[in-house]
This record gives sequence, structure tokens and C-alpha cells, in this order.
Amino acid sequence: MSEQSLSREHVIRTLPAVRWDEPLEECAAVTSLEQGNVLFFPHLTFHLKAEELALLDPALVDPKRKNISFDPLKNLLHGMARKESEPQVKALLERYYQHCVKLIRTLLPEYSHAVHSPMNTLRLHPIGAWRDSTSWRKDDSRLHVDAFPSRPIHGERILRIFTNINPNGESREWRVGEPFPVLVQRFMSQLKGYSALSSWLQQRLGMTKSYRTRYDHIMLRLHDAMKADIRYQEQSPQVNLTLPPGSSWVCFADQTPHAAMSGQYMLEQTFLLPLSGMKNPQNAPLSVLEKLFNRPLL
Ligand code: SIN
Ligand code: FE
Repeated sequence: MSEQSLSREHVIRTLPAVRWDEPLEECAAVTSLEQGNVLFFPHLTFHLKAEELALLDPALVDPKRKNISFDPLKNLLHGMARKESEPQVKALLERYYQHCVKLIRTLLPEYSHAVHSPMNTLRLHPIGAWRDSTSWRKDDSRLHVDAFPSRPIHGERILRIFTNINPNGESREWRVGEPFPVLVQRFMSQLKGYSALSSWLQQRLGMTKSYRTRYDHIMLRLHDAMKADIRYQEQSPQVNLTLPPGSSWVCFADQTPHAAMSGQYMLEQTFLLPLSGMKNPQNAPLSVLEKLFNRPLL
């Protein structure tokens, strides 16, 4: 039972697009998104070619990795167990990236010149498989906001587009939680303990790709504190979302608490977005946290 209810209308905004380049009149998608809503497109489908259906096989993923990932700017694919399928997987992920670029151009034109560092994933495992074989910290079936331990992002936004490509009619089930300002108030006492010296050392030792700022530290603490708190997981305000095959959805994964409960076969596209590219940068986690901590965090 939730301690207080959160209604579906407060977390999800449903939009009718059926094409990736379909202009939607007066939908103010950017405002909803920046408030932490999930933009849900029940009919925005990514069509696989008949021969690509054979790629929907968990045996394609390197057993040491969770997903197959692709950097479209460097044309680099990671996490494949079967080298012979690489050209086909690359072509699929490149096409998905191009679709996502079109979606941003039409749905979120404000962002189209600001987003950078695209990276996408082909997620072939059933969620239950990684939930059972991982530590609580990596368990994405616990509500969390995204934070990258080895890749500090210095306050930039994590914009993510997801598409369910399950061929067997199986939905992806998500939970979505309370607004970011409420969330950080709840965990405020657990977000301290930053050490500039540790950050310097972690960078020197190659444990992080760049310097972990106070902001990055707080976001990692928040991610961990949420996942470790079973009472929060079970009782905080949250809404269940059913995301069927043939649908797509978009959110700021650093802001919107989310958990993936079940499902298999999904495409996911990530972009980073600087605060200067936002319409309402005061909604960004960095701005909310700087106000609460009453100090700069970068
Ligand atoms: C996540 O981003 O936490 C997982 C999303 C998913 O795999 O559905
Ligand atoms: Fe996540």
C-alpha cells in the first residue's frame, strides 16, 4: 500500500503519434517532460524487418554483459556474443538511432541541436533474468533515478527513449515514482559525504572517465539510497505502467523514479542534454539540488 497515492495523470502524458516524424500540434511535450513526466506513445512502433526477428535471442548477448550497446557516432558495437550477427545488429541499432533523432526533431525541436553523446542498447534478456543474477545496486526492478558510477555527467540530463519490440505480445511493466523535489527531500540526510580527494583518486586510477563532482556523488547516493530502502520501494507513492509491444516512451531517467518489473526485448536510446538546452532548467536535478543544498554542486 502506498503511503499516499500518485495518480497516473501526474506521471504520464499520452500522445497519439504513429510516425517518428509526426508533428503534434500544441502538445507542449517539452514542458511535461521537464516536469518529470513519462511521454507515452501507445502507437509509436519500431518495425523490425522479417530477417531481424531472428536477432531477438538472448544468446546474442555476451554472458558478461547485460545488454548489447552501440555508439552510432563511432559505429562501435559492444556486448555481442556472436560476431557473425554484428552487421545486422549494427544496422538495426543505427536505424533506431535515426528514428530517435527524427522524433526529437519533431517532438522536442528545442533539443535537437543540444543533445549529444548518443548511445543505444538492444535489451534481449527477460527482466527476471538480470534481477535474479545481480546485486541490489544493479537491480533496476527497484525504483531509482539513473546515475552512472564510472561516467560522471556534471549535471547534464539523461534523456531516454524506449521502444517495446516484444514479438510475443508481452508488455514491459514499469513502476514510476514521485516528483524529483519530493524524492530528494525524503533522502536528503543520506546524500552527503562527498570527498574531493576520493574523486581525484578515482579519476587518477581510471575508475571514473572524468572527475566525479559533488553533483555526481549526490546522484549516486540517491540512486543507492532508493534501491536499498525496502520500505520506500514498497510503500512510496508510485504508479504501475503497462508498456505494450509497438509502443514507445520517453523520460528524463535522472529525474523520474522508475523500475522495470517484467518484460523482454526492448530498444533504448540515450542522449545527454546540457541544462542550457532545456526550456525550464530550474526543473533539472542539478538546479533542484543546488537550491536545497544552498551551494553550487559542480
Ligand atoms: C532502467 O532504465 O532502469 C531499466 C529500464 C528497462 O529495462 O525497462
Ligand atoms: Fe534506470
